[in-house]
Amino acid sequence: MSDFVSEFWNFYVAGIVLVSIIACAILLWSQGSATYTVGKTTGHSWDESLEEYNNPLPKWWSWLFYLTVVFALVYLALYPGLGSYKGMLGWTSTGQHKAEVAKAEAALKPVFDKYLGMDIQAVAADKQAMETGKRLYLTYCMQCHGADARGSKGFPNLTDGDWLYGGEPDKIVETISNGRLGVMPPHAHLGADTVKDLANYVRSLSGLPADSVRAAKGQEAFMTAGCAGCHGMDAKGMHALGAPNLTDNVWLYGSSEAVITETIMNGRQNKMPAWKEFLGDAKVHLLAAYVYSLSNAK
Ligand code: HEC
Ligand code: HEC
Repeated sequence: MSDFVSEFWNFYVAGIVLVSIIACAILLWSQGSATYTVGKTTGHSWDESLEEYNNPLPKWWSWLFYLTVVFALVYLALYPGLGSYKGMLGWTSTGQHKAEVAKAEAALKPVFDKYLGMDIQAVAADKQAMETGKRLYLTYCMQCHGADARGSKGFPNLTDGDWLYGGEPDKIVETISNGRLGVMPPHAHLGADTVKDLANYVRSLSGLPADSVRAAKGQEAFMTAGCAGCHGMDAKGMHALGAPNLTDNVWLYGSSEAVITETIMNGRQNKMPAWKEFLGDAKVHLLAAYVYSLSNAK
């Protein structure tokens, strides 16, 4: 593969390489066939007694140099090195990398395939599987959900048995495979006063301190403003939409009146990326089992 725009540079580089090698060979040959005055000094002397002889290079030494020249030519014929010439072996660093990855995958495939054939619950109960699952989790999921999987603001806790999209094995697989997009629409059009009522009502649902008059008005608004359509009449959420349960004192964004007000006024959009393409079914299966194990103690 060449990054040069013009073919000229390929020839330029190849030319420099070949000319250098040939120049080395000529230099070696000319030194071998020069005339020497063996045993006699050249007449130069330095530091009073340091004298120079005019002896030929030792044979073994010049042959070593000839060998490096031959090696270079053979190497350049077999491997890429002369401009855009690909070499007779067709070797590439990306090709070697791919082959090594394929080899590792082939070695691991039977292990992953064995788990893929098992129920999520059974995989979750398998200690060795869960060690592998944890390593996968720490590689691909930790940056968002945290090393302990307890999440943070906007990133759900995966250990608490409370689910936006459902904690059944097939739901977890679906979440990890295809990703999820949680959309809570903005409701600023309701006006600040009604939103404050709603925020008080939402807090009262989880038993948090709230203004009871506002909470009562908020309950009414919850039905008329469409909140119930997504979060449910009982505000216990809806897995199909990823609408959270608002009654359990578990919060994706926070429980303070200010944060709840912000959520209702401006809405929220939250994305869980899809992993099916990148990781494949077997790894997704193992990760789903790991996530399942976190909130279903064995
Ligand atoms: C770029 C950040 C990011 C990464 C990486 C990420 N997630 Fe998520 N994940 C999210 C967000 C954000 C949500 C919540 C989506 C929402 O609010 O609708 C989520 C939701 C989930 C849920 C649904 C939880 C529920 O309550 O229903 C599961 C399960 C999950 N992630 C597992 C994983 C696994 C396993 C990995 C690693 C393969 C992973 N996530 C990697 C951001 C991420
Ligand atoms: C179209 C469906 C939809 C409607 C209508 C809707 N919500 Fe939501 N709501 C959601 C979704 C989905 C989320 C989760 C967003 C996310 O994953 O980031 C959410 C999140 C929230 C949260 C944050 C909960 C937490 O744990 O931090 C609150 C509070 C909330 N909604 C209250 C309301 C109120 C009050 C209304 C009515 C004014 C309302 N929602 C209307 C879908 C909806």
